[in-house]
Amino acid sequence: DYVPEVRIVEVGPRDGLQSIKDAVPTEVKIELIQRLRRAGLRSIELTSVVSTRKVPQLADCQEVLTNPAIKDLIQHSEGNSLRLPVLTPNLKGLEIALSRGVKEVAVFISATEGFSEANINFSVEQGIKNARAVAQKAIEAGIAVRGYVSCIFVDPYDGPTNPSSVLHCVQELLQMGCYEVSLGDTTGAGTPAKVATLIRYLEKNGIPLKRLAGHFHDTYGQAVANVLQAYICGIRVFDASVGGLGGCPFAPGAKGNVATEDVVLMFQNAGIQTGINLADLVATGNWINQQVRGSSESLRSDFSTDT
Ligand code: HMG
Ligand code: MG
Repeated sequence: DYVPEVRIVEVGPRDGLQSIKDAVPTEVKIELIQRLRRAGLRSIELTSVVSTRKVPQLADCQEVLTNPAIKDLIQHSEGNSLRLPVLTPNLKGLEIALSRGVKEVAVFISATEGFSEANINFSVEQGIKNARAVAQKAIEAGIAVRGYVSCIFVDPYDGPTNPSSVLHCVQELLQMGCYEVSLGDTTGAGTPAKVATLIRYLEKNGIPLKRLAGHFHDTYGQAVANVLQAYICGIRVFDASVGGLGGCPFAPGAKGNVATEDVVLMFQNAGIQTGINLADLVATGNWINQQVRGSSESLRSDFSTDT
């Protein structure tokens, strides 16, 4: 089986869409997932099963998961050849995901208190305990678990993050059975120098680099540079969002994820294989941006006033 040198985890259908204010039709979400698969993506985060009050955009997650074409994709997902994680914040989300035949879930915690409270209504330690309960049940059910730690550099409410909190969260997520932990620069505050310092710190403290992924938001235009720096440090898995969509409604002012097209262009041009067809990906990015045009702008001004 072909193994690309770098694995891109496409988070567009989840992180990319979650903060868009105007409802994106379910059919568009389904087509987005199918186009991404056809472009060669082997890891696609399908949706999240979260409070619909908190994230109304993804309230149709069950319709997405039960669509016959998506069900078929899920049935054919196996190991690294095709991963289709669904973000689940609690046992309720896990139960719904399992009832839809999902074979991988992602649990998420924050290294910092302010964002943890705003995002999941838990302290950091409560969040870890809750994620552990979800991971345990998922593993018992025989499915894979991916982990996220948010606010690796800065918390939108608390300011700079203590690296030892990031280390603690990564250790906890690995210990609870996550096969991989994605390091979330939620606010996009990271720069290559900060990325290198954090990765070296985690490595020095016993975290295997092959268990880490990078998840960079692009608020200050540093995200592609951060991906490259993380690659130079030895990371081989990167989350990205087609068309650069994305942002978290509970991180005021945070922009989209690094654009998948930009990451693929950079790696391909350096002769590093991603297994993704760049032309198909660019067409998908243009198409989805047309579908959601304008609506993400309006949300940004919105969530900066309500938090
Ligand atoms: P809560 O309000 O503290 O407590 O939510 P609750 O458990 O009492 O639930 C409240 C309501 O939500 C109830 O409904 C529940 O039934 C319902 P009501 O009785 O009021 O009608 N509910 C659910 N509905 C659907 N699916 C569920 C679910 N659970 C409860 N799974 C909770 C706590 C954790 C549920 C909530 O705070 C939540 O959903 N948080 C998630 C917010 C979110 O999705 N944030 C964005 C994703 S994280 C992110 O973007 C960062 C990342 O990209 C990495 C990075 O960039 O750093 C991953
Ligand atoms: Mg994110």
